[in-house]
Amino acid sequence: MSTAALTALDRILVILVAVSWGLAGGHAVVSRQAGPSALLVVAALLTTACRVAVTAALASAGWWFAGEKVLLALPLLLPPALAAAVVSLPRMLRGSFTPLTFVFPLAAAYAGVAGAAISVGMGYPLAPYPSVVLVLAVLGATAATWSMLTRRGPRGRAWRVAGAVVAALAVAWTGLSMWNARPAAALRLSPTGSVDVTELRGPAGDAVRRFELTAKPATITLSSGRRVEALTFNGLSPGPALRVRQGETVEVRLRSELADRGVTLHWHGYHVPNGEDGVPGLTQDAVREGGAFVYRFRADQPGSYWYHTHETPNLALQEGLFGTLTVDAAAPEGFDEPVALHTFGGALTVSVAGGPPADGTAVRTVAAGTPVRLRVVNTDNLPRTLGVSGVPYRIAAVDGVPVAGRVLTDEQARLAAGGRYDLVFTMPSRPVLLAAERAGLLLTPGSGAAPAPAAGPSLDITRYGTSGTRAPERFDRSYTWVLDRLVALRGGIPRLSHTVNGQVWPRVPPALVRRGEWVRFTVVNRSGELHPMHPHGHHVLVLSRNGVRAAPVWMDSFDVAPGEVWEVALKADNPGVWLSHCHELSHAAEGMTLHLVYEGVRSPFTLDAHNHPE
Ligand code: C2O
Ligand code: CU
Repeated sequence: MSTAALTALDRILVILVAVSWGLAGGHAVVSRQAGPSALLVVAALLTTACRVAVTAALASAGWWFAGEKVLLALPLLLPPALAAAVVSLPRMLRGSFTPLTFVFPLAAAYAGVAGAAISVGMGYPLAPYPSVVLVLAVLGATAATWSMLTRRGPRGRAWRVAGAVVAALAVAWTGLSMWNARPAAALRLSPTGSVDVTELRGPAGDAVRRFELTAKPATITLSSGRRVEALTFNGLSPGPALRVRQGETVEVRLRSELADRGVTLHWHGYHVPNGEDGVPGLTQDAVREGGAFVYRFRADQPGSYWYHTHETPNLALQEGLFGTLTVDAAAPEGFDEPVALHTFGGALTVSVAGGPPADGTAVRTVAAGTPVRLRVVNTDNLPRTLGVSGVPYRIAAVDGVPVAGRVLTDEQARLAAGGRYDLVFTMPSRPVLLAAERAGLLLTPGSGAAPAPAAGPSLDITRYGTSGTRAPERFDRSYTWVLDRLVALRGGIPRLSHTVNGQVWPRVPPALVRRGEWVRFTVVNRSGELHPMHPHGHHVLVLSRNGVRAAPVWMDSFDVAPGEVWEVALKADNPGVWLSHCHELSHAAEGMTLHLVYEGVRSPFTLDAHNHPE
């Protein structure tokens, strides 16, 4: 069974364990019937045995999948469950209903409820304070039950004091957590740092290439004629395609005509200086109506990138505040164009070179023999499966970085949310189809029938082609990010969230690094959903996926599927305080966002009413 399936099974078992012990204990107390009570205990023992087996299987898949179950949930559950088997069950069968017959199934039920709380609200790793509270609560409930069953208590004072202490601890913990999670909690990262992010800006002096982008609402028209209300840059979505030559200095002036929200520009995949990263509340304040912000950076990183707003991106990016950024190492030859995939008003569209977003298949004429490079950008929250048919092709770059890989015929490749593939081939004398699920781009030399969409197997991009970098032998630091779906306090209220190490943004502990270090991240997905992880300001070198060595390849948006474990390496060469998050932006908004912080760098910005980077 896959790790993802085991995790899902465990979520069911944890409920069954609590319910079955509750039924066993409750039935015995109320009915005192030997046969049925014994049967319920046997059923509860069976669910418990299943949970032990599933936990063991999860632990062998990786400690992150089972740590808190092995260390806390099972140690609470197994002693009363075993005592119920050894002490309570024989008594029930004999028809002897004494306090010893009842107390162990009931204690197992309390432990079962604690187990459910652990799996719904804590995850991995164990949080010390709530663990202590849970242990005390189970012991307290068991002791109280015992004293009621034996009618020997409550022994006045002692019990009440103990109960009051446990309750006070629980209330104090809840109150403290809610206070920390209050909406207005300012995010002040390393306030003692000596470098301010506002000092980490692009080069001053004469800009060679200037662009002006004005955010405003507009109605855009898809290729079918359908009109969609969008948020645009200069009335366009995708916004103007920015294209510059390596070595140029780029200056982009952002203005806002948005009445109801702020806007910023984040350069996805591009290693701009930190102060140009466009994260409201971290590297700047969001630009409000009538305001402006000037971004500057040197175009020293050739490849395919994109830009988008980072103010409430889950809403505003979806509605259209994005565009492509291409940095050419040399004059582009042949048909070399960014191709943006985006869902407008429920329709997946393809946008190419000036044309409107095509909700269907876009068509371009390309002469046979022309070199073609399609710089496909996935600007949606979900991955897209791409395939080229009608010609053998290569993936020449992943997330902007060149890779050397084999020629693909009819094979398909899944592109993560936020990711880019450069697909290259020479135009044949018949049409070629780039299919992206329900959307497509047909290149035709002028005649011939469109080929059927590629239908071959899906390739594993981590093993496709190497970008030539050797993974380091040793690392200066290591971090583990365990991604999960838990109830956590967001804005002071317990809500189902997307968590990292059991926490939600902005309380996920940051990854601290020092300039020059190689840092290893182990990214573990315990949830049932895909998480396209995206660190700002850096690419990561993918070392392995599920223990299988990668090519290795540099990526800035990588899909961690349920039950998967990815090992990636980051070279800390771009000082700042950087956001890292899931690019399924609704997950980022529900907590799956954290920070990479360089020692000595501080941010003066705060999460006020106008800054919502998540
Ligand atoms: Cu496209 Cu924070 O990212
Ligand atoms: Cu996610």
